[in-house]
Amino acid sequence: MNISGGSSRKSLRRPDSVRIAALLRIGAAMACLLFAGSATAGSLARLPPPPVPAGNPQTPGKILLGKKLFFDRRLSGDGTMSCASCHIPDQAYTDGQDISQSYPTTRNWRNAPTLINAAYAGALFHDGRAASLEEQALFPVMSSFEMNLNLDFLEEKIRIVPEYVAAFRKVFGGEPTRERIAMAIASFERTLVSSNAPLDRFLAGDETALSREARKGYGIFTGKGKCAGCHFGALLSDGGYHALNVPENPQDRKDPRIAATRRFVAKLSQYAEYRTLEEDPGRYLVTKDRKDWKAFRTPTLREIARTAPYMHNGMLATLEDVIEFFDRGGGDGNRALSPLGLTGEEKHDLKTFLAEALSGDDIATTVPEIP
Ligand code: HEC
Ligand code: HEC
Repeated sequence: MNISGGSSRKSLRRPDSVRIAALLRIGAAMACLLFAGSATAGSLARLPPPPVPAGNPQTPGKILLGKKLFFDRRLSGDGTMSCASCHIPDQAYTDGQDISQSYPTTRNWRNAPTLINAAYAGALFHDGRAASLEEQALFPVMSSFEMNLNLDFLEEKIRIVPEYVAAFRKVFGGEPTRERIAMAIASFERTLVSSNAPLDRFLAGDETALSREARKGYGIFTGKGKCAGCHFGALLSDGGYHALNVPENPQDRKDPRIAATRRFVAKLSQYAEYRTLEEDPGRYLVTKDRKDWKAFRTPTLREIARTAPYMHNGMLATLEDVIEFFDRGGGDGNRALSPLGLTGEEKHDLKTFLAEALSGDDIATTVPEIP
């Protein structure tokens, strides 16, 4: 994932993902429908079923194949990492670290987001540089600081496993290829969806779905707290990017391996001065537009109670910290936020809303048998 800048930008050598993107063309159009169709700024909405691209329909066989690949350490260079190493089912598909885990001897540079509801996101990654789950799936495999596996080698490693060969034939009518591997993984990810969250029941008219405090918190979220200016609709996200100036993670300064990762990603993103880059440029890496300097995607807030620590670099450990951050008006020098002046009780109610309303039923995942 991380190894590309605007992965679908033709300036980058990313033939696989470009092909996949062209093949499946979901992304923008569908996301617009979801955001615009479900709500306007300020109001929240119930979660519809996730969009599925016409080129990659869901089938039970494909979902199971994708699940096996998701948990299979063969997808990493030294056989130590699977997707589930950093997206751990028991931790709401995050790894619970501020800065995510990494391939042995290297360091990652960002927080691993949950994969729950990633099926709805119009653009993936903290800077939005991947357009679809299909396009995204091969990035971590190739990424030198994540799974570090050459994709030609990936194909051969999967093609020597008779069970996989048989499963790909059944599901796709052909042999394992990188595109099909990505399609199967994406199909599995599309099953990771929040269902039946208290917010959805509340919005459907069931007042008792939220406690009294959470209902007051909902009022603050959509009112005095101004949260729903950016976190709205079914995903509680505007699908946009904002520079809130979250403080840098001090590990970044202490561990030169993080700087190496940052420079590497920046170089692949055609960032000319990548060698002197001292901080995470956020969305700027993709657009090279000054207004996107240190802007990050507005994340969904669904499942937020389960996905600490928060922000692109995991700098805020708890929901209380997040609320204090917004109450102060965000990080130094930002122009996106202003101080809120919330009382202690209002902060408490807001936290109760975030903690109580947004988690769906548990997604029971059993680790499949790996061939
Ligand atoms: C070494 C840790 C690690 C591994 C292994 C890993 N990921 Fe990730 N994943 C991350 C990090 C960190 C990010 C955020 C990167 C960024 O924004 O630049 C991420 C982001 C994502 C996203 C985007 C989510 C969103 O909301 O934008 C998806 C989807 C994803 N990973 C799927 C996978 C799949 C599929 C695999 C296996 C093929 C995988 N990941 C392996 C750490 C990892
Ligand atoms: C100007 C738009 C904007 C407003 C207003 C806003 N947010 Fe956010 N929010 C964001 C962005 C952008 C991020 C991601 C920042 C980053 O990763 O550095 C974020 C991150 C978060 C996160 C962490 C999510 C995660 O998975 O790490 C939480 C929780 C959150 N916001 C809650 C709130 C609450 C509560 C309010 C109201 C008090 C609020 N936000 C107001 C844009 C906004």
